[in-house]
Amino acid sequence: MSNAASNQRDSKKTLWYNIAFVAVAAVIITVLALAPEETTKKLPRDDIHLKFYPMGKKAAEKFCPDCHRDGGEVPFPEGHPPKNRCLFCHKKITG
Ligand code: HEC
Ligand code: HEC
Repeated sequence: MSNAASNQRDSKKTLWYNIAFVAVAAVIITVLALAPEETTKKLPRDDIHLKFYPMGKKAAEKFCPDCHRDGGEVPFPEGHPPKNRCLFCHKKITG
């Protein structure tokens, strides 16, 4: 095979890789853009929870189970998802 032909084949391959890359990127961006707004309740900004706002997430989460635990003051609703990192889901209210 001549060099020219193989170069042409390589550049065709590269073109297809680029098209595939752009297509995948477009799908990801579309999915992110269409994703529903997060509906999980945020960390309330009330007297109880305000003190957790200036803390780091990990530091603050140590206190949550003081009240939020099964049989505690404010137990979790039934079917609550795994809850080791509260503030990843219950985000601080910003702005
Ligand atoms: C001193 C007790 C106490 C601690 C500690 C506490 N909470 Fe609460 N939490 C409450 C009470 C009482 C309510 C219900 C009334 C309210 O919204 O403030 C509540 C409600 C909530 C709600 C529901 C809000 C809503 O909109 O219905 C979330 C989410 C929550 N807390 C997350 C957390 C997280 C995360 C932490 C740890 C960073 C935490 N709480 C620490 C007492 C506490
Ligand atoms: C993987 C995500 C996730 C994590 C981690 C998580 N939660 Fe939740 N939590 C939810 C979802 C989803 C609900 C359902 C109601 C909603 O939309 O807030 C909920 C509900 C609650 C409620 C009841 C809110 C209400 O009034 O209906 C409280 C209180 C709560 N979570 C506290 C906590 C605490 C405290 C932690 C950490 C120990 C925690 N959650 C960790 C996702 C999470």
